[in-house]
Amino acid sequence: MAVDFKSPREIEQMRVACQMAAETLLLVGEQIRAGMTTDDLNTLVHEDTVRRGAYPAPLNYRGFPKSVCTSINDVVCHGIPGPQVLKDGDIINVDVTTFYKGFYGDTSATFYIGRPSADAIKVTEAARNAMMKGIEVVRDGAYLGDIGHAIQSYAEGLGLGVVRDFVGHGIGRKFHEDPQVKHYGRPKTGERLRAGMTITIEPMINIGTYQCDVDRADKWTARTADGSLSAQFEHTILVTKTGYDILTARPGVLKNSENVANLFAI
Ligand code: MF3
Ligand code: CO
Ligand code: CO
Repeated sequence: MAVDFKSPREIEQMRVACQMAAETLLLVGEQIRAGMTTDDLNTLVHEDTVRRGAYPAPLNYRGFPKSVCTSINDVVCHGIPGPQVLKDGDIINVDVTTFYKGFYGDTSATFYIGRPSADAIKVTEAARNAMMKGIEVVRDGAYLGDIGHAIQSYAEGLGLGVVRDFVGHGIGRKFHEDPQVKHYGRPKTGERLRAGMTITIEPMINIGTYQCDVDRADKWTARTADGSLSAQFEHTILVTKTGYDILTARPGVLKNSENVANLFAI
């Protein structure tokens, strides 16, 4: 197991795939609404990805049957699109991974359907902030444990659970590369980040316990063990000499996610 460092040329190729994923996520934000099914979201992501001349990486990945992961309410990650109808008050993570000309871009966000509960706002905004706190410690020489600690100390400080069963990852010519990026940990522990590494940071934050169970029937859908709400955000990040570059940064505001909490905060 070894980290695959990217050359400047590879980084620019990766950025193209990452920007496609970011734009597809923006499209999801434009379209998502109560009354849609998660299969409708799958069709939207599949068609937008193929239209770009790219491939939706989840499709047939280790047997995953759809083109995107859609994870509603207590679903932590890896929800499979199907006939479930989105309803007012739901939160849903949509996780888009685009494969284009040999490189992967991986990004996700949690969206609000209609009017959110106070708990929905709390867990969703905490997950968004936790991801950013993890990103902000990234730089050449920082430790993987610094990322985990930044996320864990913030989320646990709010009384929230940080999922341990699923982690971020290196990414590039493969969907999942070394290293594993844990969203919990201690400062100055683990491997050191070096410029040219490309990783995802994708914390899953729960209102209650951090523990999860994977669906016994479909072998994919992970739910919180206590049935509490879970939220997640994900970016693909390049480690640089002085900090980080968010390769999946969006060229616009993510509708039905960014700015929604302000509208409904009590
Ligand atoms: N996109 C997920 C991640 O962030 C992986 C999904 S694997 C799938 O790593 F098979 F469920 F698509
Ligand atoms: Co990922
Ligand atoms: Co992902």
